[in-house]
Amino acid sequence: MNFDPATYAQRRARLLKQMQRGIAIIPTAAEVARNADTHYSYRHDSHFYYLSGFNEPEAVLVLVAGPDNDSPPQSILFCREKNLEREIWDGYRHGPNAAREQFGFDAAYPIAQLDEKLIELMGDQPALFYPLGRDASWDQRILRLRGAVQEKVRSGIRAPDEIRDVRVLLNEMRLFKDEHELDIMRRAAAISTAAHQRAMRFTRPGQFEYQVEAELLHEFCSHGARHPAYTSIVAGGENACVLHYVGNNAQLRDGDLLLIDAGCELDGYASDITRTFPVNGRFSAAQKEVYEIVLAAQAAAIGAARPGSHWNDPHDAALRVLAQGFIDLKLCEGSVDTVLASETYKKFYMHRTGHWLGMDVHDVGDYKSGGNWRALQPGMVLTVEPGCYIRPADDVPSELWNIGIRIEDDVVITAQGNEVLTEAAPKSVRDIEALMRR
Ligand code: GLY
Ligand code: MN
Ligand code: MN
Repeated sequence: MNFDPATYAQRRARLLKQMQRGIAIIPTAAEVARNADTHYSYRHDSHFYYLSGFNEPEAVLVLVAGPDNDSPPQSILFCREKNLEREIWDGYRHGPNAAREQFGFDAAYPIAQLDEKLIELMGDQPALFYPLGRDASWDQRILRLRGAVQEKVRSGIRAPDEIRDVRVLLNEMRLFKDEHELDIMRRAAAISTAAHQRAMRFTRPGQFEYQVEAELLHEFCSHGARHPAYTSIVAGGENACVLHYVGNNAQLRDGDLLLIDAGCELDGYASDITRTFPVNGRFSAAQKEVYEIVLAAQAAAIGAARPGSHWNDPHDAALRVLAQGFIDLKLCEGSVDTVLASETYKKFYMHRTGHWLGMDVHDVGDYKSGGNWRALQPGMVLTVEPGCYIRPADDVPSELWNIGIRIEDDVVITAQGNEVLTEAAPKSVRDIEALMRR
């Protein structure tokens, strides 16, 4: 990865401009113990990383917009000090001096000085921005420090009298991806696409779900994406009807479908793909019938994902196709309009058709604005993921029992329409069967 500090400096400058005045305090994530002396693999806080590109734990970014327009804005990093003894055990630490230079901050200090410096920096600032309510211990700490500033009132120093959630500004910034971000997301999508192709080539009856999961992880990791963006769902047969199935330990049966929802994280950005295909490489007639309905619903939804549409339009487009399909399959009765109005489709399709995608797999950003679904605009990235999940029931044709299908792609809204980042993962019946024959 070629690191360009200017990208992050520009984001900090944009945030500072939107704050107008005051101070922002943005801590990164803490390390989390898995058990005893071992930790979960470290993952930075997305907001912190978005503004810094710095991925060591125990770091806090402080942005000072200044009490008035005359004082120049400042970006300050607090991070771990160099420590040869700890670096022998845990690896390299930048330390404040190198971090300031390489990442382009105006100043950097040891993290141990955070409280003392914050009491200074908060003085006379009219507003305090931080991720309000995200972490109880940070809430307490920030209020305690603000209290310490308040105690200086007799020296004529004032504490910020306005506290705001900095995420309101950051979520909106992150919703619109810049070229730097889209480049990473294209590469993440390409790796995940290759992983799904690999899984299709690998899958045979008799294998276990975790063996297919291992193929996905192999493809991610061998292209530099060390972690999945979320726990992979590898769900054979009836397991596909459990929406968040992550057991991944059943044996795959001849004649069943396999649903895989898996995507890698690359340099802090998620990809999120679902494909559903036959374990033995050939769809049965019933499987194919349901599959073609979900695929048509997805095509309708992707067609509705373009500038000028609203957030809910892809969902509505998918629902109309699914409702007609459920009527044709004798899963629902009535007309498309009555199925939609009565919501009887929810027995077979109970989730929404997508979500924002970015640093977080369910990324930040409001879905409504002023009470209305917001308009889709260039630079927004969303998933389009309709599905159909048919559990056994007396009023359901038995040949459809335990069919669970979802098809999910990652879509960027562009000026002309959209760009499907994950298009190369086969999804037509023909393309899937052709790949699996090879
Ligand atoms: N993989 C999570 C989702 O599809 O929303
Ligand atoms: Mn998914
Ligand atoms: Mn998704």
